[in-house]
Amino acid sequence: RKQVTWGGRFSAGPAQLMQQFSESVSFDSRLALFDIAGSQAHAAMLAHVGLITARECAAIHKGLEQIRREIEAGEFAWDLALEDVHMNIEHALTLRVPAAAKLHTARSRNDQVATDMRLWFKAACAELRTKLHGAQCALLDVASANAGVLIPGYTHLQRAQPVYLAHHLFAWMEMLARDCERFERVAALANWCPLGSGAIAGTTLPIDREHTARLLGFVDARGRPQVTQNSMDTVADRDLFIEFANACALVGVHFSRMAEDLILWSSSEFGFVDLPDAFCTGSSLMPQKKNPDSCELLRGKSARLQGNLHTLLTLTKGLPLTYNRDLQEDKPPVFDSFDQVAICAEVFAGTVGGLRVNEAACAAAVADPALLATDLADYLVERGVPFREAHHAVGAVVQLAEKRGVALNALETREVKKINAAFAEDWREVFDLKRALAKRSGTGMPGPVQLRRQFARWKKLLK
Ligand code: ARG
Repeated sequence: RKQVTWGGRFSAGPAQLMQQFSESVSFDSRLALFDIAGSQAHAAMLAHVGLITARECAAIHKGLEQIRREIEAGEFAWDLALEDVHMNIEHALTLRVPAAAKLHTARSRNDQVATDMRLWFKAACAELRTKLHGAQCALLDVASANAGVLIPGYTHLQRAQPVYLAHHLFAWMEMLARDCERFERVAALANWCPLGSGAIAGTTLPIDREHTARLLGFVDARGRPQVTQNSMDTVADRDLFIEFANACALVGVHFSRMAEDLILWSSSEFGFVDLPDAFCTGSSLMPQKKNPDSCELLRGKSARLQGNLHTLLTLTKGLPLTYNRDLQEDKPPVFDSFDQVAICAEVFAGTVGGLRVNEAACAAAVADPALLATDLADYLVERGVPFREAHHAVGAVVQLAEKRGVALNALETREVKKINAAFAEDWREVFDLKRALAKRSGTGMPGPVQLRRQFARWKKLLK
């Protein structure tokens, strides 16, 4: 049997069952390239302060490069008996390079895994931002292709006021933009180097933490190294895992809400859009069905992303300082959140990219003059009626139209005048949709002037 790293104190290796129970290499091997980068920087620092020779450092670097190539080529033999990614790599190095025995000088797996993960978080955040960017580009394309389409905006799932479809899609853009910013912030939080914290209390050896940090890119905007400030906190802290999972969970919530809109819009009751066949499935029984499965899965995945966040919160609550083996369970939920957000973003982009907008259905839905009841109240306000009174008057107009079974603008002018004397001959002009939209010209509003601004803004931002 292979000599485990801590063999000196033990007379027997772990039980087979314990090995299977405690291994993490089956999931943390995805940290391999970061682990190697961390070891290379650590070795360079050890050489820098004279704890190993330049020659030993070079041998370690070379050996690690070999291992990196084998891992990238899929030729590296991972061994569950060696527990985790750190010991697999260190062991492989030991078999090739005598100086490998010095690599773990002034280092513990506790600050090592914290470093690997911080490097991973920085890369993961950048990658997810790229994926979300892809989703935003798909949105911008649909918005551009359907720039003139009006739909009802909804509150309480009831038709509320007319908006351009693009305005609705740009609301989704804002959600995704906030998600990108969140990942940027998480990456900034990750940007502190744990190495040198050791197992819990640093080291007695004369290391140079800043040197390692610089080599690994844990630097601020001006290139100054950033190292964590408390060795105990460094090996116990998992806030970053939670922040990352939280950012992912929020992306999940956003995709879920957008997916829900798409599910509604594509239903026969709405019929605003047709989803691409490539992202739908049929029914095994009902030949007429085309189900919005990509959207329903996007909605479903959000539960899983929230679950991962919850797992991490529960994992860390009540855990005494500092490192406890429980913390090995911190990685599967984080990796899963990453994988799911990555594929969700792609599936969303694909689904949205293949959207066909049914202009006739949108036009019919937005044609109801009642959607402009608020505008009618504004019309009265412009004629000096206090808003509450105007609201009441228009309410009475709506009620009258309902009683008659006619559209709002089919009432006689003298009828509405009886309700409020401020109504004049021109009151029906309010119901001109294009005009109503044009009047919504302030920042953030759905009028065409703002829409043009937003198109320009997003085009520039997504460049
Ligand atoms: N595989 C371990 C983890 O992910 C690495 C740290 C091990 N440290 C220890 N003291 N057992 O947590």
